[in-house]
Amino acid sequence: MILPIYLYGHPVLRKVSEDITKDYPDLKSLIANMWETMYDSDGIGLAAPQIGLNIRLIVIDVDVLADTFPELKGVKFTLINPRLEVLDDGEVKSRDEGCLSLPGIGESVKRTEKVRLTWLDEDFNPHDEVFEGYLSRVIQHEYDHLEGHVFIDHISPIRKQLIKSKLNNIINGKVNCGYRTRSVAKPKR
Ligand code: NI
Repeated sequence: MILPIYLYGHPVLRKVSEDITKDYPDLKSLIANMWETMYDSDGIGLAAPQIGLNIRLIVIDVDVLADTFPELKGVKFTLINPRLEVLDDGEVKSRDEGCLSLPGIGESVKRTEKVRLTWLDEDFNPHDEVFEGYLSRVIQHEYDHLEGHVFIDHISPIRKQLIKSKLNNIINGKVNCGYRTRSVAKPKR
């Protein structure tokens, strides 16, 4: 089932999300719905707050970027209860980011592209790995959602001022994108 994507301005995107257990209701179908929603909106990652749930659950599929970043071929994850640490010895890079919760916005974001991530997969098996490069950026972007942050929190006040009218349109639900959305201004859309 394709779920509506919650837009910038909605308070669900500003809360710190909570861990889940194996008993979380209908978890398998929730994860399946997140995949379906992400693919339907041509996203490469989706965090549970973006579908209105403040739980620590992320899906990522970056295979579509394999032409540009060959190391991303076949890379697909479900991350449950992830914990992330940015490693200071990584390369600092600025690259453009976008977000399904901020349609039409693309901004350059500076990040240290090396992280250590611990998480549980969909069978609740534990993992502990270090990621670098573009994938570490995607993971940080999605992880930000679990902490109540969005990528434009990382841009300068001047850049933010320059996109203010676009942001106001998103807050008011005035977006033109090819997927279902839900805004704080038009909650029943
Ligand atoms: Ni996002």
